[in-house]
Amino acid sequence: MQFSDSRFDNKHETFHRFKWLVAALATLCIIFGVLVAIFFTSWFNLIINSQVILRDGTQTFGWWSKPPVTPMIKVYIYNVTNADEFLTNGSKPIVDELGPYVYTEKWEKKNIRFHDNGTLTFNQEKIYVFDESLSAGFEEDVVVVPNIPMLSATSQSKHAAKFLRLAMASIMDILKIKPFVEVSVGQLLWGYEDPLLKLAKDVVPKEQKLPYEEFGLMYNKNGTSKDNVTMFTGASDITKYGLVDRVNGIAKLPHYLNDECNSLMGSDGSVFPPHITKNTTLHIYDKDLCRLLPLKFEKEVTVAGNVPGYRFTPADDVFASPDVNPMNKCYCPHGPPCAPSGFFNVSLCQYDSPVLLSFPHFYMANDSYRTAFEGISPPDPEKHKFYMDVQPLMGAGLSAKGRIQINLAVSQVTDIKQVASFPDIIFPIIWFEDGIDSLPEEMTSLMALATSVPPVARAVLTGILLVIGLLMLVVAIWRLVRGANRLSSLHLATGHVGPLQTKDMPMANVPRH
Ligand SMILES: *[C@@H]1O[C@H](CO)[C@@H](O)[C@H](O)[C@H]1NC(C)=O
Ligand SMILES: *[C@@H]1O[C@H](CO)[C@@H](O)[C@H](O)[C@H]1NC(C)=O
Ligand SMILES: *[C@@H]1O[C@H](CO)[C@@H](O)[C@H](O)[C@H]1NC(C)=O
Ligand SMILES: *[C@@H]1O[C@H](CO)[C@@H](O)[C@H](O)[C@H]1NC(C)=O
Ligand SMILES: *[C@@H]1O[C@H](CO)[C@@H](O)[C@H](O)[C@H]1NC(C)=O
Ligand SMILES: *[C@@H]1O[C@H](CO)[C@@H](O)[C@H](O)[C@H]1NC(C)=O
Ligand SMILES: *[C@@H]1O[C@H](CO)[C@@H](O)[C@H](O)[C@H]1NC(C)=O
Ligand SMILES: *[C@@H]1O[C@H](CO)[C@@H](O)[C@H](O)[C@H]1NC(C)=O
Repeated sequence: MQFSDSRFDNKHETFHRFKWLVAALATLCIIFGVLVAIFFTSWFNLIINSQVILRDGTQTFGWWSKPPVTPMIKVYIYNVTNADEFLTNGSKPIVDELGPYVYTEKWEKKNIRFHDNGTLTFNQEKIYVFDESLSAGFEEDVVVVPNIPMLSATSQSKHAAKFLRLAMASIMDILKIKPFVEVSVGQLLWGYEDPLLKLAKDVVPKEQKLPYEEFGLMYNKNGTSKDNVTMFTGASDITKYGLVDRVNGIAKLPHYLNDECNSLMGSDGSVFPPHITKNTTLHIYDKDLCRLLPLKFEKEVTVAGNVPGYRFTPADDVFASPDVNPMNKCYCPHGPPCAPSGFFNVSLCQYDSPVLLSFPHFYMANDSYRTAFEGISPPDPEKHKFYMDVQPLMGAGLSAKGRIQINLAVSQVTDIKQVASFPDIIFPIIWFEDGIDSLPEEMTSLMALATSVPPVARAVLTGILLVIGLLMLVVAIWRLVRGANRLSSLHLATGHVGPLQTKDMPMANVPRH
């Protein structure tokens, strides 16, 4: 009797310990499940952060330095078809939108130098190759466009001394310079010899502006840029990942009225700081834009390869005049008058030429600028809006359409006879769409994975842990309850050995039913 009793006690004790062990394990499982549910996202974000940082040898670094994509620039040219009537009879200018003239691009970051403060410096290389099959014309097509160097010079001379303007007029007479030029598309973009620039280069002292004797809207852009761009790698501060720190050692533009407007701290459009929300404002920096372009969330999109992304576009008032958007006051250091709403004055970055940027077809500007011309259709957001799709988690650019129109703000100068009849007008020259349609599959599949797997992994992991925990807990509780019952039966049954067994047996059988 005693022997059997102590054996029962031993067994009972191991059972007891086992139950507590199961209960502890169950609780651990549940706690861990809850922790996973709460912290999975931040753990995952830490992994993302460590993966996107630009380090030599990683895949991200390879993709960044030599993107496996083929960006394309599509150029549309406003060919002036009634230049003579416009000048002699004051008729409304008629333009014929030609294009697209398509160039495929190859980008590579050259001379990459890492610094030990979480930045690196590089020179951007862009090679443009004309793609005849995608174009609606040839590079040799002859177009008639305003003579930008000449009209810049005459417009700038508006406030100069009268004798200077008269001198200018006779020089232009001798050189036979006319307010419109007939050039090929290739020349307009990549450069043609301009007599005025050549003259300026010969007579103006070396320190003065205008370092070229050729003029072209994309002159010198085919090749490796001389600008040393210093960019944050994300190693020291992930919130600055991909943003420009300095260009040629200079951290601020010199042109504008405050630090915010002079800031360069934007992305080149390929990568952005990760963890983009719908509240994030993305900033793009481009030298020719002459400022940061802020982009706001517009809508959710699904790009090629089934990757969900966010579409960001410039706010409607990004180029609004200061009386509409007071934030833009700092971009008008010599005003008022400032550029009208819908235009951005880049003359300070263009050797003082009166160049105004806008969106194509004067999108977001007063319609009167468009209707001052014949042949420009009303703007269509589908075709003319600037946008950029990003993968919010990793901050990678998915596709982009950088759409910008280049205009010349001509001022009438009656003292110069060649342009005396050229009225005050904002004359569109070209517009272009620069961007990437889609990423290669190796990139999109990784991004699709990165967006679809984490929520599933989190749910599955949490679910499994909680289910196992709960099951173990149920088992443990049931064991404990049964144990407690058995214990109480044991206490009740002291001395009555017979009933103990008859009482215990059915109890043990209960769950089996
Ligand atoms: C551009 O317009 C001019 C007339 O002003 C015309 O001679 C020329 O053929 C046009 N160019 C193209 C490519 O259509
Ligand atoms: C200017 O208008 C006049 C009269 O309307 C016309 O005779 C002349 O041919 C026009 N000139 C040009 C260059 O079209
Ligand atoms: C990082 O170091 C480089 C090279 O020494 C320097 O040009 C750059 O300004 C530094 N950037 C920051 C943010 O300190
Ligand atoms: C750009 O340069 C490459 C060679 O570096 C050349 O093959 C290509 O034709 C050039 N593109 C243009 C538009 O001049
Ligand atoms: C860019 O960096 C190189 C090497 O550090 C230097 O020789 C060159 O002068 C720099 N260029 C500019 C425009 O600052
Ligand atoms: C976005 O901003 C709005 C208003 O500023 C705020 O109510 C909202 O909580 C923010 N959302 C996120 C995800 O930060
Ligand atoms: C553009 O900016 C320059 C320099 O600040 C200024 O002289 C010019 O008047 C401006 N042009 C327009 C159209 O606002
Ligand atoms: C557009 O400009 C015209 C003439 O300059 C003006 O009367 C009109 O109010 C402007 N429209 C808007 C929407 O600002």
